[in-house]
Amino acid sequence: MRILVTGAGGQLGRELIEVLASHEVHGRDHRGLDITDRQAVVKIVEEVRPSWVINAAAYNDVDVAEEASELAFAVNAAGAGYLAEAAARAGAEMVHISTDYVFDGRKGSPYTELDRADPLSVYGRSKYEGELQVQSAHPSACVLRTAWLYGEYGKNFVKAILKAAERGGPLKVVADQVGSPTWTRHLAQAIGELIQTPARGLFHVANAGACSRFEFARAIVQGRVEVQPISATDAARPAPRPANSALDSARWQAAGLRPLPAWESALADYLGEDGRRR
Ligand SMILES: NC(=O)c1ccc[n+]([C@@H]2O[C@H](COP(=O)([O-])OP(=O)(O)OC[C@H]3O[C@@H](n4cnc5c(N)ncnc54)[C@H](OP(=O)(O)O)[C@@H]3O)[C@@H](O)[C@H]2O)c1
Repeated sequence: MRILVTGAGGQLGRELIEVLASHEVHGRDHRGLDITDRQAVVKIVEEVRPSWVINAAAYNDVDVAEEASELAFAVNAAGAGYLAEAAARAGAEMVHISTDYVFDGRKGSPYTELDRADPLSVYGRSKYEGELQVQSAHPSACVLRTAWLYGEYGKNFVKAILKAAERGGPLKVVADQVGSPTWTRHLAQAIGELIQTPARGLFHVANAGACSRFEFARAIVQGRVEVQPISATDAARPAPRPANSALDSARWQAAGLRPLPAWESALADYLGEDGRRR
């Protein structure tokens, strides 16, 4: 298959380029394609003539987005919509990546695809608007909500905790935010499977299970340094985050797609034998 990957310089984008290597993959990083440029989007889709467009581009700085709402909406909503429009016009299928931060976090159990989105932050609202624009321009697009991504490329929570642990403990980590940590490798492989099937629509795709940021940090440092629980209020981050955004991939499994491994085993595989990352 010929696949156009946007946001190809990001943590998921780079992973997709590797995992999908058996296909004809055309990766475009931010410099190669700014998805907020509607004409450039149309031109690239016409040039590449992909059978799939996978949008891994996003404005992802959740805290800065509170003050950069225009840019967040331009990339996460309008840009996603331009890609969906161009893909639909070219007869290409589409995968668009969204987030657990579309939820308000007040549900006491994992969120399914049937739960109502009600984002708390500018980032969350921009991503939810992106879902709506993609679905409207390309009704058969696959919209995948994922969560707490980490992997080999780019910045992420796992790397930040490993680095902080090297400097020495104790580390103070938020204990009242629960989510589903997900290894980009597993997400990219899941996307590789999805595009070979007729499954379309909205899916939650994350490593199985859930934990708090505090529990996640403890699993990352494996007892090498002390981790102390703090509250989200103590952490005082600019953007509000859902207290619970654990994802239930019910619809993914109902479509016959393989569930992703549990977050604990994904993290162990990612960290490797020495527990410090491959
Ligand atoms: N990271 C997470 O924990 C997480 C959680 C849930 C969902 N997601 C979603 O998962 C997807 C992948 O995230 P990620 O962690 O791989 O993010 P990432 O590492 O920040 O990658 C996103 C890429 O998009 C690029 N980009 C930004 N603005 C662009 C534009 N206007 N046109 C084209 N490219 C642009 C960025 O390039 P520059 O850096 O050069 O601007 C970056 O390389 C996103 O949709 C994100 O919302 C992420």
